[in-house]
Amino acid sequence: MQHTPAPAADTQPEAVAQTAQPQNCPAWQHLQQLAKQFAPSTQAATPQVPAAAHFDLRQAFASNPQRTAQLSLALHDAQGELLYCDYSKAHINGEVLQALLHLAEQTQVSALRDAMFSGAAINTSEQRQVMHWLLRVTDPAELPSNLLALWHEVDTTRRAFLDFAESIRADAQITDIVNIGIGGSDLGPCMAVQALYNHALPNKRLHFVSNIDAHDLQQVLQQVQRQHTLFIIASKSFTTLETMLNARTALDWFCNGEQEHNNGNTPDIARHFVGITTNQQAAAALGIRTTFGFWDWVGGRYSLWSAIGLPLAIAIGAQGFMQLLAGARAVDKHFAQAAPQENLPLLLGLLEVWETSFLHYNSRCLAPYHACLQRLPAYLQQLVMESNGKSCTKSDQPTPYPTAAPIWGEPGSNGQHAFFQLLHQGTQAVSVEFIAVRKPEHPWEQHHNLLLVNAIAQAQALMQGREHTQPQHRIAGNRPSTFITLPELSPRTLGALLALYEHRVFVCGAVWNINSFDQWGVELGKVLAQDLMQRINSNTLAGLDTSSASLLQRLLG
Ligand code: F6P
Repeated sequence: MQHTPAPAADTQPEAVAQTAQPQNCPAWQHLQQLAKQFAPSTQAATPQVPAAAHFDLRQAFASNPQRTAQLSLALHDAQGELLYCDYSKAHINGEVLQALLHLAEQTQVSALRDAMFSGAAINTSEQRQVMHWLLRVTDPAELPSNLLALWHEVDTTRRAFLDFAESIRADAQITDIVNIGIGGSDLGPCMAVQALYNHALPNKRLHFVSNIDAHDLQQVLQQVQRQHTLFIIASKSFTTLETMLNARTALDWFCNGEQEHNNGNTPDIARHFVGITTNQQAAAALGIRTTFGFWDWVGGRYSLWSAIGLPLAIAIGAQGFMQLLAGARAVDKHFAQAAPQENLPLLLGLLEVWETSFLHYNSRCLAPYHACLQRLPAYLQQLVMESNGKSCTKSDQPTPYPTAAPIWGEPGSNGQHAFFQLLHQGTQAVSVEFIAVRKPEHPWEQHHNLLLVNAIAQAQALMQGREHTQPQHRIAGNRPSTFITLPELSPRTLGALLALYEHRVFVCGAVWNINSFDQWGVELGKVLAQDLMQRINSNTLAGLDTSSASLLQRLLG
């Protein structure tokens, strides 16, 4: 059973014109001048750099009672509020905002955005369209005619995998679902299943195996029974080393046990293994006949919306999955249509460019104040760092400016008792992003109220700081943060939040003139690992650097 029709004929990608080098734009130079008014946040108000000489958040709020109203936005759909973002505690003022909007104009961000939404091949290094957003479209009337045939493929495949998800939900014999995949074929569904655990069917256990380290697989296999388990082998390419080896080991484990169990009868792979891939041939070669396809224009880190989301669809059902898509689609439309000064992904992307390329912040910390968002930082690490961790422009020039900063984080309030010390008093300039959810899904109000006030208090402390007679007790303050709130953590609001991040990444990549949709940097390590494996097998270390040779001998010799 294969669920992906042949590619439609009328979607041939068009080439896209290269954008200008951003550093040559007048707005870039203007921003460089403006940046001089902003001391690195770690230095603000030290005795050497008096606060008065530089932008100071406390003064900015004191002098403008409208600051929060001016620097915040809420997004809605027909069902109500999706999310709200307050970026008034960022190091930004009206002049900077204007210059950033000019930069977006001069680097033609909206032209690239429109090209993406029209199906042009904006992934220029691979000559591919970038259309994960098409996976969220449910009304074809919203599409240009060149994308209709492709949308029908998307719709057919979506119906097929959602029907399959419903059949598994209804199948009392299947109690455990094991997703084997890595990177985008793991992080999205794993993060979302955890985030929406309160919306999930209680009698299905979802497991995620990604690491080539078999301790990962072993722990899961120890918990499940063959006849009650569905394995989902998720890999866009179906060539990824980790996933292929884990899949083979899981197949062996299943087949060996099944043969014993069934007195030598052929194990029922068709019932217990399903593949999600653009490479159905490779899945068939592994003996997996039930497959759901997707397309090369869906990047791995953008693939939660495709059949890669099957574990989530099993957990929350077809209806829940459609709500996830609807929330994301509302943000797609907002990004495509809202005026620049009210366009939240655009504004947050520009703010990130400002903080990274002009204010030189070293990293971004994500603090989701919700235990169910535990894997969100890991998910966003791939989205942000694999997309925009680049130093070569689309015109093959080195970027003379910093691009994506590392992003990291942990749920609050845990982080407060671990790394927040550095955020308040350390020497690194870090931009902090808080996420909080108004409505809990547990009955313990006191817990939730304390969680929320802690989030707000941390953002306040970063900004306010504290004077003290003893220098070691002193907290300089004037440290920036942004704050995102969701009315509730539901499929719809999660979809909106993730789409907001996707488009924000897009905006940064567009301004930086880098290709946010390839990942050539991860290839070299894969090649070298193969080479080392061959060396081990043939016992040849000649020509290898002494450090790698001695590590090989120590660990594998
Ligand atoms: O090596 C990086 C990467 O290609 C990611 O971009 C991708 O999400 C991951 O590996 C897994 O790839 P696949 O889904 O093809 O197994």
